[in-house]
Amino acid sequence: MKKSAELFNEIVEARRSVRVYDAEADFDHDSVKRSIDRAILAPNSSNMQLWEFYRIKSPDTLEKMVPICMGQNAAKTARELVVFVARPDLWRKRQQALIAEMKNVYGDRTDKQAKRAFKYYQSLIPKYYFNDPFRIWGSIKKLMFFFIGLRRPMVRHGNGTDIRISVHKSAALAAQTFMLSMKAEGYDTCPMEGMDSLRIKKLLKLPRKAEIVMVIGCGPGSEKGIYSERFRIPNEEVIFEV
Ligand SMILES: Cc1cc2nc3c(=O)[nH]c(=O)nc-3n(C[C@H](O)[C@H](O)[C@H](O)COP(=O)(O)O)c2cc1C
Repeated sequence: MKKSAELFNEIVEARRSVRVYDAEADFDHDSVKRSIDRAILAPNSSNMQLWEFYRIKSPDTLEKMVPICMGQNAAKTARELVVFVARPDLWRKRQQALIAEMKNVYGDRTDKQAKRAFKYYQSLIPKYYFNDPFRIWGSIKKLMFFFIGLRRPMVRHGNGTDIRISVHKSAALAAQTFMLSMKAEGYDTCPMEGMDSLRIKKLLKLPRKAEIVMVIGCGPGSEKGIYSERFRIPNEEVIFEV
């Protein structure tokens, strides 16, 4: 095994969801910044980066978050909380940023590769992300995909729910990158979906269409922060070779 794989394995094995943090131990807040920088490098659907990361550091806001996170110890004792937010509503803004990037990359090129890239972001992306308030376009797409799919392989996702799932998937990959990075920095984390997402949105002054993916408690773990031995369903029940 390569040295890098050994090191990575060490980090993956050492990461646990830690629910109690040590109030006395040092905590380098810059490790959170570095870990968010790394999280942003996570793969994400069409590179649309429909995510935002809110660092909650002030004692006052941390205190407000405790009841919102249902009084969980992982929130009560966290030195910092990071809220991972999905922003499907920002798709037009991201589309513009990506078209500008395509212009940087391809300039005036009109070859196949350049045309394909522009077509993807200028034409396909709006067809995928646009949705009318009555969700009619999403239903039409689903129906179209169904009929096309009778004859050949076809992408099946296209309505509002599918888009939300896709945006959450990407943000969750960023969250995992963040947690592994925090472990590599020598700290612990706990992802939380046991929280009142509506109240978090109010606290962070987020628009209606923003969605809370998860809140991650961070800090130096305390010995009593791991509640039980690690348990996983046996591999043969979940891993299949076909
Ligand atoms: C999406 C998600 C939501 C979670 N929500 C909570 C939570 O609200 N509170 C909590 O204590 N743990 C939460 N967890 C942590 C899981 O309970 C934990 O990952 C699982 O038991 C496996 O333990 P391990 O992370 O130590 O390997 C969550 C994990 C994920 C991925």
